[in-house]
Amino acid sequence: MSFSPGLKDVVAAETRLSHVDGEAGILVIGGYPLEEIAERATYEEMVHLLWHGTLPDGAGLNQLTGDLAASRPLSGVTLDLLRGAAKERRPVIDAVRMAAASLPSCDDTTDARSLVAGLPTIVAAYWRLFHNEEPVEPDPGLGHVANLLYMLHGKIPGEDRVRALTTYLNTVIDHGMNASTFTARVIVSTRSDFISAVTGAIGALKGPLHGGAPGPVISMLEAIGNADNAESWLREELESGERLMGFGHAVYRVRDPRADVLSRAARAFFDREDNGREDDLYALAVHVEKTALELLEEYKPGRRLQTNVEFYTALLLKGLGLHPDLFTPMFAVGRVAGWTAHCIEQRTVDRIFRPESLYAGEMSSQWTPLEER
Ligand code: ACO
Repeated sequence: MSFSPGLKDVVAAETRLSHVDGEAGILVIGGYPLEEIAERATYEEMVHLLWHGTLPDGAGLNQLTGDLAASRPLSGVTLDLLRGAAKERRPVIDAVRMAAASLPSCDDTTDARSLVAGLPTIVAAYWRLFHNEEPVEPDPGLGHVANLLYMLHGKIPGEDRVRALTTYLNTVIDHGMNASTFTARVIVSTRSDFISAVTGAIGALKGPLHGGAPGPVISMLEAIGNADNAESWLREELESGERLMGFGHAVYRVRDPRADVLSRAARAFFDREDNGREDDLYALAVHVEKTALELLEEYKPGRRLQTNVEFYTALLLKGLGLHPDLFTPMFAVGRVAGWTAHCIEQRTVDRIFRPESLYAGEMSSQWTPLEER
């Protein structure tokens, strides 16, 4: 038996959901290269692709859209929990984790629907409660993403906002055997339910090495402030051994293909929005990215550290008017379709994950009574 820290290079599952080639910078989702599908599909179409293996026809799409819309409202238990969490000022992602755990578990199909449809309602309701506003009821006449923005801001969003957020959610919908997906699959492998699996996945996602990075990317851009400061600020971080947020990836050794899709989406969004300040932020981000890549090559030669998904995620979500505290919750809202699809796939495998460990402790310690320790 060999020990691979972080399970690096260990194949833990066979999947038809997504393929990541870190050397070539390729991400394929359900058979489609990311750049072929992310900017075109609705979120509901992506959910169909992951759950059923094909893009839906018109009837299939109507059915799924209706099923998801019907699953959006939250129970009194979940709403009460969110109210209590808001009173205690719990962080958004922690409230989302708690509320996800409170969704009723029925059968796998119903659970998958209530997770994908319920997470946006949870995020929007909590955000409003946290700011002393009443939640906005979901509108079954709106699509998944339009309804999410409506529940957050209380007004029907324009098409450009819906498209920009849809592209983001599609881009992060699935990504091979990442830590949160693996967590979900481990939980389902015990024949536990999908609600438990997604609750665990949210816990894994919130760590700064996984889904918690885009907030710090915005803090970094704000601290840099303008292009003239970029080089000295970044140098100082690297000199003191800090990691630059939004760069490096466990799998990609070239530019993360999701960064390209999101950079394009951010550019298109800022071009359409008459929003000079955010446009300045875009120009600053492009400059910071270029400078950071040069410095990473200087300070960490040969490590092949490139821009990751979080860098342009931060920019796009900020441009959409979302607070950085919503960035990781939004990641969960996108990834939940991937998590549930992996749960469905894992169910068919029906084999418990049970790796080995290498024992590195004592073998024959002798009992010492408490008063002698
Ligand atoms: N800035 C500076 N140095 C870095 C960075 C970075 N962003 N990332 C890695 N390095 C350095 C490490 O310090 C290490 O240096 P050393 O060889 O001198 O010890 C070397 O590059 C290799 O680092 P590893 O930890 O082996 O890289 P790994 O591939 O395991 O880590 C990770 C990937 C965790 C994403 C890392 O690059 C990182 O911390 N990045 C910043 C946080 C971030 O952006 N996270 C979001 C990732 S995307 C996602 O999960 C959706």
